[in-house]
Amino acid sequence: MKKVAIVGAGYIGKLHADILCNKIENTCVTSIMDNVEKKGRDLADKTGAVYYKDFDTMLRKADVDVIAICTPTFLHTEMVVKAAGAKKDIFCEKPLALSVADAEKMITAARNNKVNVMAGHVLRFWPVYVKVKEIIDSRELGKTYHIYCERLVAFPDWAESGWNREEGLGGGGALDVQIHDIDYIISILGKPDFINSQGTYNSAFGGWANMVTNMGFSDGITGCVQAGWGLPPGFPFTNVLRVVCENGTVEWTFRAGKLLEKRDLNSPMVIYKADGTILEETPDGTDAFLIQWKYFIDCLESDRKIENATFEDGRNALEVVLAAIKSAKKGKTVKIK
Ligand SMILES: NC(=O)c1ccc[n+]([C@@H]2O[C@H](COP(=O)([O-])OP(=O)(O)OC[C@H]3O[C@@H](n4cnc5c(N)ncnc54)[C@H](O)[C@@H]3O)[C@@H](O)[C@H]2O)c1
Repeated sequence: MKKVAIVGAGYIGKLHADILCNKIENTCVTSIMDNVEKKGRDLADKTGAVYYKDFDTMLRKADVDVIAICTPTFLHTEMVVKAAGAKKDIFCEKPLALSVADAEKMITAARNNKVNVMAGHVLRFWPVYVKVKEIIDSRELGKTYHIYCERLVAFPDWAESGWNREEGLGGGGALDVQIHDIDYIISILGKPDFINSQGTYNSAFGGWANMVTNMGFSDGITGCVQAGWGLPPGFPFTNVLRVVCENGTVEWTFRAGKLLEKRDLNSPMVIYKADGTILEETPDGTDAFLIQWKYFIDCLESDRKIENATFEDGRNALEVVLAAIKSAKKGKTVKIK
């Protein structure tokens, strides 16, 4: 049984707490830490955990094996470094940090303290994204020409004290939202050679609210991500994944509620083959956040190395997204490697 502390009892902290308490047998939530006492106590009451108002006190006193960092992005680095120093295994939400240097500090802290860590890059565990990666890797549709990902959401207006409206605290939609798809494409093709981005800058939405990023890879393969949180309140959470290959195109479009509630689990993955056949498959509807936690906990319990959604993966995704933001700012293509 792994005892987990949730740090940050907001939107994503509550989602993780529900999974760890109610959906996985070999985990329990023993501690909740949030500096907003009501939020922390409410979640502690729901989960039967002990509430802590102070992070350092929690690290010293809590009976816990794993710390789940679910706080605003600007707090991740300091908390991860401290948690690693306290020899705890760590799950940290994406984006890992706001700068590559901070992500490096987190990697070093984990390595020096020999703790196991994982970044919350949940698309790597999302069944349809996993399936499409398998199709690409197997080359059953031949060579890959282009990967297109879309992720458009209404602005997350629940964030505590509006932290995500400050570019220096959250990085805008260009970082917070776009990083999911950039990381997914990197997980298949590696880092791009160059990147060119344009976007909509809206300081009310924390900087670059929406962004379109084009990426060039070796062999002429291209990627494109359109992502952001600059959509109006009624706009449903929308994802598109389209991969154009030599012998066919795979496409999946998905809508949910404001965020991930009311997911349309029946939206099929469609394969349009070069010979004109059209195949439809309803993807496995298992919650990717659950699969993500099962993977992490299984690795910890069986002493297996974490090889998916590592902190290095988180760092690479951050590097590419920051290059996209630089490209949009300068109006220029940015070389990555
Ligand atoms: N994986 C995903 O799909 C996904 C989805 C949403 C958010 N996120 C990420 O999760 C993080 C949190 O986002 P959110 O939407 O849950 O934000 P949120 O504002 O809803 O929650 C953050 C919580 O952290 C608490 N907090 C703030 N300062 C703190 C401190 N010093 N110590 C302890 N707690 C503190 C706040 O009171 C709040 O309860 C962000 O990095 C975001 O990018 C990931």
